[in-house]
Amino acid sequence: MAIPKTLQWRGDAASGALHIIDQTLLPARRVELALADTDALVDAIARLAVRGAPAIGVAGAYGCVIALRQGLGEAGLERVANARPTAVNLRWAVTRVRHAAGLDPQRALAEATRIHAEDEASCAAIGAHGAPLVRQGMGVITHCNAGALATAGMGTALAPLYVAQQQGRSFRVFADETRPLLQGARLTAFELREAGIDVTVIADNMAPTVLRNGWVQLAVVGADRIALNGDTANKIGTFGLALACRAHNVPLYVAAPRSTFDAGCAGGADIPIEQRNADELRRIGPVQTAPEGVAVFNPAFDVTPAELIAGYITEDGIKQAAQIAPWLRGQ
Ligand code: MRU
Repeated sequence: MAIPKTLQWRGDAASGALHIIDQTLLPARRVELALADTDALVDAIARLAVRGAPAIGVAGAYGCVIALRQGLGEAGLERVANARPTAVNLRWAVTRVRHAAGLDPQRALAEATRIHAEDEASCAAIGAHGAPLVRQGMGVITHCNAGALATAGMGTALAPLYVAQQQGRSFRVFADETRPLLQGARLTAFELREAGIDVTVIADNMAPTVLRNGWVQLAVVGADRIALNGDTANKIGTFGLALACRAHNVPLYVAAPRSTFDAGCAGGADIPIEQRNADELRRIGPVQTAPEGVAVFNPAFDVTPAELIAGYITEDGIKQAAQIAPWLRGQ
């Protein structure tokens, strides 16, 4: 299994850089970017060169080091935290670094390194807890990319698949293409193939047919923010997949670390949803696919209500919605 390393800090706090794989270019080209100033880091997060809630949390933590060594202070940290609004991991990481390190870049690097290592460990634990759900010969569907490319470790939604594979089981994965930016076709299919897992790409509108055909017995997706009541923001299209799964009695699990749960959001209505550039829908790459200037609705995420979610695969085990609040309180 060859799981790509999305994020690597190289060097010390004074002159080091965050090295990322530019995910906008995958799978055609594997290009590494060295991010050494705040503008470049914020731009990389905003244009999805680094993406996925845990990965942008870790990138944001290292971004604090960069902003602080540039002398940008609180305003610099705020810029990093605001690079994207929906994944709570980003603000969570910046807040954590701020509390641990004040405005000292050296201490910020120590805390960012801890956040990085913890995310890697969380992914492994999510994989271990979720793997028993993945049985020999079954079909699994996933949406967007919640794998190694989206985290500091082996992923969230894809981690149970990697662990099930390590345990010797074989199974078939259907990867929703994930319009408009194709994270499923470009990234999930890429990393599952690299790992030697049987993966079939489908357009998002084919998922109900795949479910009706009886080809899938389990759905696993990641999350960008999970409210206290279990309502879950994830890539646009997750809600539709969850409805289709419910109609076909296929359980849909959300896999996410604690850093994706937001005790400050009571329910899904409190989660801010990022609206992205209209040209993401008017074009596919350089090719125009809709009339120039046509009105577009382009939310990056939707909210799946808790009642459509079978459980939450976390580093502390599989939780039900009612267990989230006590778990976050440490009970
Ligand atoms: O816009 P993206 O590509 O950052 O969206 C990513 C997702 O929706 C993922 O499913 C989520 O962040 C979980 S990644 C482990």
